[in-house]
Amino acid sequence: MSVAEQSIAGAEARGHGFLASSVGRKVVMAATGIILFGFVTVHMIGNTQAYLGAEGFNAYAKFLHSMLHGAGIWIFRAVLLTAVGLHIWAAVTLTLDNQAARPVGYRAQQSIASTWASRTMRWSGVILAVFIVYHLLHLTTGTVHPNFDHTNPYANFVSGFKVPLAAGFYIVAQLCLGLHMWHGVWSVTQSLGLAHPRYDSLRRSFATGLTLLVVGVNITFPIAVLTGFIH
Ligand code: HEM
Repeated sequence: MSVAEQSIAGAEARGHGFLASSVGRKVVMAATGIILFGFVTVHMIGNTQAYLGAEGFNAYAKFLHSMLHGAGIWIFRAVLLTAVGLHIWAAVTLTLDNQAARPVGYRAQQSIASTWASRTMRWSGVILAVFIVYHLLHLTTGTVHPNFDHTNPYANFVSGFKVPLAAGFYIVAQLCLGLHMWHGVWSVTQSLGLAHPRYDSLRRSFATGLTLLVVGVNITFPIAVLTGFIH
């Protein structure tokens, strides 16, 4: 089967229409990426309540769980889960289509910047997916937490990060989040039509500034516990 026939067969297998097209799936990636990016930024700001101590942090956690009489967190979870699912689906199918359209692969050109960026997106994305599952089992359900207390999110936060291996994994995952976010913000601003020499330094500063802020603050949490600053 020729390359063109393989691409058409791939689109037919998924059905016709906007979502079957690679442009449609890139729009899905960008839109869900913006939602997830908004979430990690707000989540980082929310977690800074840990610096206020047990009372402030637990009050914040209680507020999250009681929004709209308890329905708010479930609406928010549904949106987040859908966004993560669609983001991964678009990434996997676009990658498979690219591979099908390039069965021989590049040799000399393999080190070009765009290839490096997309390879980084793949492995940082996989590590982030593993991290999210671990993180939910750790601080939301408590399944893999050494001494989880459903009534005390602050104590879970502190005793969770006292385990060096867990704290280390959080730090590595935040570095992956940084790479993923940086390339994501860079490429979404390109998709929005801002890829122009006049805007490139602004795009680079925006991507770098936001990534450093979210990742930098997130990394302080496990470090603050390990050093005894948060206790
Ligand atoms: C060091 C960084 C982070 C810390 C300290 C942290 C802390 C927490 C805590 C304490 C909770 C439980 C809130 C509660 O149920 O009361 C939570 C939930 C959650 N976190 Fe994080 N988080 C971090 C990074 C991340 C990142 C990078 C992501 C996503 C990529 C993420 C995704 C989530 C999700 C999806 C929930 C579940 C929200 C829910 O439905 O209850 N977190 N986090």
